[in-house]
Amino acid sequence: MLEKNPVIFIILAFVVIMIGTTITMIAPFKWINSDSDKIAEVKPYTPLQQEGRDLYMREGCNNCHSQTVRTLAADVERYGNGGGYSKSGEFVYDRPHLWGSRRTGPDLARIGLKPLTPAWHKKHMENPQSVVPASNMPSYAFLNQPLDTTYSERKMKLLKFPYTQADLDELKGKSEMDAIIAYMRKLGTDIPVKNAGAAVQAPVAQSNPYTDLKAVEEEAKAIYKQQCASCHGEKREGTLGPALKGSTKSETDLFKIISQGSTANGMPAFSSSLDEQKIWKLVTYIKLDTK
Ligand code: HEC
Ligand code: HEC
Repeated sequence: MLEKNPVIFIILAFVVIMIGTTITMIAPFKWINSDSDKIAEVKPYTPLQQEGRDLYMREGCNNCHSQTVRTLAADVERYGNGGGYSKSGEFVYDRPHLWGSRRTGPDLARIGLKPLTPAWHKKHMENPQSVVPASNMPSYAFLNQPLDTTYSERKMKLLKFPYTQADLDELKGKSEMDAIIAYMRKLGTDIPVKNAGAAVQAPVAQSNPYTDLKAVEEEAKAIYKQQCASCHGEKREGTLGPALKGSTKSETDLFKIISQGSTANGMPAFSSSLDEQKIWKLVTYIKLDTK
């Protein structure tokens, strides 16, 4: 009967479709806001970090880098840097999000947790092959130009991010390179890290359990190549950091430096990315030429 009256049929069909639409589309926007996803520790970007984020988009870094660590064990192991997989609440200040779909380069969602320093980032951005010889990332040395801060304050207002005059003053004299490095160092760092705090603890074992280098050489070399070579040179000859050939420092001192790092911008702490055994193996490898 009803289907024979086109006008009533269209009206009723519209009502039915609208009920579905209201429930599945409008309701989530209206009543389930992103506050439910928020994580107290996750902070909005500072003006410098936000400028870096805009440069990241301008340069299309997201064409080669994703920014989301999936829940897969392989993803967490490779890109989690100790912070685990990405949580939805970590993206509430990302407008637009930069999850990306291509991984020509590694995922950067937790790059800020990786034991790297501003000096490493600068060198890597200027000439990626100078730190990672097999890299196919292009050079971004041209980012060493003054940062355009014309719209910095307006951006913060539009995004409703808190900022202070000091944050804005901090932009003075900064380069685009500074901004992109500030952004890299913020990514993924807000989330509480598993082993955070371990850095202040002294080594549990007080002496090196590996006295025979031959037994651990292979493994120590592999860890060194992956974690240390980009700053201390392939052959421990020293590049960004000092040469590590046959150090005269004691083994416990070396352990301490590797696990806790040294100066803020010098040697990063590895306590959350390397376990005790691995650090002792590295100590053994550093002592190689003195034994
Ligand atoms: C053509 C693809 C490509 C583009 C474009 C690109 N990268 Fe990369 N990137 C790579 C590859 C490949 C690596 C891995 C080798 C290396 O570390 O250099 C990498 C590595 C990195 C790393 C180190 C990651 C790690 O876990 O050690 C950072 C940081 C980085 N890129 C930032 C950027 C930024 C910022 C931009 C944009 C200004 C950018 N990349 C553009 C391909 C790219
Ligand atoms: C991001 C760059 C970077 C990485 C990666 C890095 N280091 Fe360092 N390292 C430095 C810098 C820079 C210094 C000098 C710090 C200072 O003088 O305060 C340093 C200092 C050291 C020292 C003290 C050397 C001395 O004689 O004073 C040791 C030991 C050391 N690093 C070992 C390692 C080991 C082992 C690894 C790998 C697990 C590693 N580093 C990874 C940058 C790095």
